[in-house]
Amino acid sequence: MIYTVTMNPAVDYTVLVPQLVLGEVNRTEREAYFFGGKGINVSVVLHNLGIESVASGFVAGFTGQFIRQGLHSLGIKSDFIELTPGMTRINVKIKSDKETDINGIGPRVDQDSVNTLLKKMETLKDGDCLVLAGAVPKNLGTGIYSNLINSIKAGNVYVIVDATEDYLLNTLKHKPFLVKPNRAELGQLFGKEIHTDSDIVFYAKKLQKMGARNVLVSIGDKGAVLVTENNRVICRDAPKGQVKNTVGAGDSLTAGFIAGYMHSADFDYALRYGLAAGSATAFSDTLATKEKIEQVLNGFE
Ligand SMILES: Nc1ncnc2c1ncn2[C@@H]1O[C@H](COP(=O)(O)OP(=O)(O)OP(=O)(O)O)[C@@H](O)[C@H]1O
Ligand SMILES: [Mg+2]
Repeated sequence: MIYTVTMNPAVDYTVLVPQLVLGEVNRTEREAYFFGGKGINVSVVLHNLGIESVASGFVAGFTGQFIRQGLHSLGIKSDFIELTPGMTRINVKIKSDKETDINGIGPRVDQDSVNTLLKKMETLKDGDCLVLAGAVPKNLGTGIYSNLINSIKAGNVYVIVDATEDYLLNTLKHKPFLVKPNRAELGQLFGKEIHTDSDIVFYAKKLQKMGARNVLVSIGDKGAVLVTENNRVICRDAPKGQVKNTVGAGDSLTAGFIAGYMHSADFDYALRYGLAAGSATAFSDTLATKEKIEQVLNGFE
């Protein structure tokens, strides 16, 4: 089974306000509610591809309930830990002549709830996959992802980490199967700005020396670079198309990579499938469907 963990999911409240005036009462012309978070996005894209996963992490309050129900109505299994008190955050996205975002903090996570999540790691089995993705509530330290991996008892769990700075660096000693920084995040890990493919390969190999088995660096419309545990370096451009929305493109790349690797155990295919999924989301209004991913894949050799 694939388990995704989203520590601080959110409900996005997206409003269209043609002329936003600060300090006045503004009325929305359109409004919509979406739920998300990196691990949840991975679960949704896997589901779109017909692959089962369990979405886990922390939720709270009525917004947390909205997320659980939303996943349930899509047919996606979830196993979130309910926090009390508190409320899963709401991120306000105001679409006007410019876009203004007001992102919430999210609930405080108490130690008992952390322990419950750590306990869940003990139930993972050989061959399972664990995706740890996204930002972490402020009150948890940078060792949290590392602690989760450390609680796994099974010997052969495919751990995938999409996190920033020390949250990611602290996991490397556990030899995660895959880490997926984007280019800017890779630079932040080493306090450098990275511009060229050869720099990407250089720093990706550094992450390998520090423990990562495979390193996938995404570069937006420039595609991705994959450095594998069998010493291969694969650089691939992204498919071309009309970009509509890049929210969740990175998560779609992760989901597509997992799907491709599960299907073939072949890194070339996994990367190609991942890029098709990432770009299919970039070319869609929401997270990509299977149909869109396969359409992008077919035009992409
Ligand atoms: N403008 C684009 N055109 C084509 N494909 C894109 C574009 N932006 C993103 N993608 C696709 O999505 C993948 C991941 O994108 P990106 O590097 O932006 O991830 P990220 O920064 O981790 O995103 P996220 O905001 O979801 O965390 C790319 O490798 C590519 O396949
Ligand atoms: Mg990302």
